[in-house]
Amino acid sequence: MKDYQAVIDLLRNRVVLVTGAGDGLGRLVARRLALHGATVILLGRTIRKLEQIYDEIEQAGAPKPAIYPMNLEGANAKDYADLAQVLETEFGRLDGLLHNATLFEGLTPLANYDIELWYRVLQVNLNAPFLLTRALLGLLNRSADASVVFTADRASEEGRAYWGAYAAAKGGAETLMKILASELETNTPIRVNSIDPGQVRAGLTLRAYPGRPATEWTDPEAVLSAYLYLLGPDSKGVTGQIVRAQD
Ligand SMILES: NC(=O)c1ccc[n+]([C@@H]2O[C@H](COP(=O)([O-])OP(=O)(O)OC[C@H]3O[C@@H](n4cnc5c(N)ncnc54)[C@H](OP(=O)(O)O)[C@@H]3O)[C@@H](O)[C@H]2O)c1
Repeated sequence: MKDYQAVIDLLRNRVVLVTGAGDGLGRLVARRLALHGATVILLGRTIRKLEQIYDEIEQAGAPKPAIYPMNLEGANAKDYADLAQVLETEFGRLDGLLHNATLFEGLTPLANYDIELWYRVLQVNLNAPFLLTRALLGLLNRSADASVVFTADRASEEGRAYWGAYAAAKGGAETLMKILASELETNTPIRVNSIDPGQVRAGLTLRAYPGRPATEWTDPEAVLSAYLYLLGPDSKGVTGQIVRAQD
């Protein structure tokens, strides 16, 4: 998918929500989506970071984004309902939803895994994507062509040692993606897929392998075309798939 070429106005008139938009891959993806015409809703927990990416997008002359500060770890049912209400009032629909935010605090053997951390990681990486998708289904249904994208990781598929709750949550999210794709395949405009960015120079990999030089990892800019493909009209009809961004 790394060779996919997106036309410049690929996402014109599309409203896309990106979680974890303040840093790492989410930040780069949000900016790239906006440069291709999307109105991007920047959801994240650190307002300062969201403001920085907001300014970058505005200065680039792309459609004006929106900031939605939300801590996915502590959000309750009302917070999700409030988000849906705000988006309904501001935009009336949603064309794209990218589950990108992640909580990962490093590699640990299961025998020593902190129990509180286990719950927190499952909350951000598995429960939040479920709660967010559930809350926003009504708005996604109002789109002519809506795309929900989860973020996969091979560490989960391979059951890699020491990846703990993060890998378990990503495995759960893969199943969630497939269930949603099956349930929404008929009579809705919503497709549901996952993107596997592969290892790139961004927060997760840098925290997993702190001793290795950052230059060892793929430049995250090189995987962005796969996000454009999945969130734009060229992937219409594709659902229930895992797209490998570096293949
Ligand atoms: N990097 C890789 O090589 C790689 C490989 C495979 C898969 N992935 C996947 O790609 C995605 C992005 O990874 P990344 O490396 O870019 O991660 P990252 O640099 O750590 O960024 C994660 C983002 O999630 C946000 N976040 C964390 N907890 C949150 C919470 N409770 N509420 C709201 N937002 C929260 C962070 O906010 P703050 O900025 O406020 O901390 C940050 O913006 C993840 O889903 C990851 O699993 C990455």
